[in-house]
Amino acid sequence: MGVLDGRVVVVTGAGRGLGRAHALLLAAEGASVLVNDLGTTPDGAGGDGDPASEVVDEIVAAGGSAVANRDDVADWAGAESVVAAAVSAFGDLDVVVNNAGFLRDHAIVSMNEEDFDSVVRVHLKGHFAMTHFAARHWRERYHAGERRRRALVHTASTSGLFANPGQSNYGAAKSGIATLSQIAAQELARYEVVSNCILPGARTRLTLASPGLPELMAAADGAFDTWDPANASPLVAYLSSEACRFTGETFSVMGGLVQRMHPWTVGESVDSVTGWTASTLSAALDAL
Ligand SMILES: NC(=O)c1ccc[n+]([C@@H]2O[C@H](COP(=O)([O-])OP(=O)(O)OC[C@H]3O[C@@H](n4cnc5c(N)ncnc54)[C@H](O)[C@@H]3O)[C@@H](O)[C@H]2O)c1
Repeated sequence: MGVLDGRVVVVTGAGRGLGRAHALLLAAEGASVLVNDLGTTPDGAGGDGDPASEVVDEIVAAGGSAVANRDDVADWAGAESVVAAAVSAFGDLDVVVNNAGFLRDHAIVSMNEEDFDSVVRVHLKGHFAMTHFAARHWRERYHAGERRRRALVHTASTSGLFANPGQSNYGAAKSGIATLSQIAAQELARYEVVSNCILPGARTRLTLASPGLPELMAAADGAFDTWDPANASPLVAYLSSEACRFTGETFSVMGGLVQRMHPWTVGESVDSVTGWTASTLSAALDAL
């Protein structure tokens, strides 16, 4: 018995890194998994093999159920095709794990339009397009009388919540994803859909390309491997399961540490019943 027995799950960008680890665990927990991966280079430019099929082979060899898909999740028709492929292969869709993405880090002054657009597209539009087409399917099933807990798991980043110089494109997209997840939780509750977000930290080709990180992330012999991408997957399995009791939440996960993030909160205020002039407001704000 697995926690995902009978569930149909799509994992985007599941050919490598975190997505691959999620797909392997979700399949081991009983889910039928559509393994989506376009097979891009780390900066999203050009093709880089067929990692989705390799992960499907691993799942099937271990006795699990999976199909491969190579659509671009940030393409409107591509996202629609991913949802249709899961329904066609397995008869329904219960969970979308939005994970696909890549990086093009530059300082604001040297970021070009293509580097900005492509990163916002793959992360923010990729998450939205998959959410949109899954939500349409779930609304249709709900109106057909089905009552079943569905789930969205989105992938943001500490770069989005806490900001990271050099990642204005990526951080803005990831911050948007965290908010998208909350809006999806609010809008889709009526169809019994829960929506939650993770902030992972793991050794993948993306983080291995960051100066200083490979040394930090090296696994020590015999010790618990804090940076293994597979450490994030049990949280994804829980958020994908019918037992999940959260919606609209964001959790960071790295190694054995899982932290619930608190949303933006209102801080100190100044208030004037007669309104402000520039100079009176300036004085009031100076006192904060
Ligand atoms: N590695 C970390 O520590 C870390 C931290 C925070 C957030 N994340 C996020 O986790 C997710 C996975 O990253 P990773 O580190 O495993 O990277 P990765 O490069 O190992 O895997 C990402 C996969 O997404 C695929 N992909 C890219 N564009 C696609 C598209 N348009 N359609 C379908 N597939 C596409 C790539 O081919 C690749 O296999 C990303 O959203 C990343 O931003 C990672």
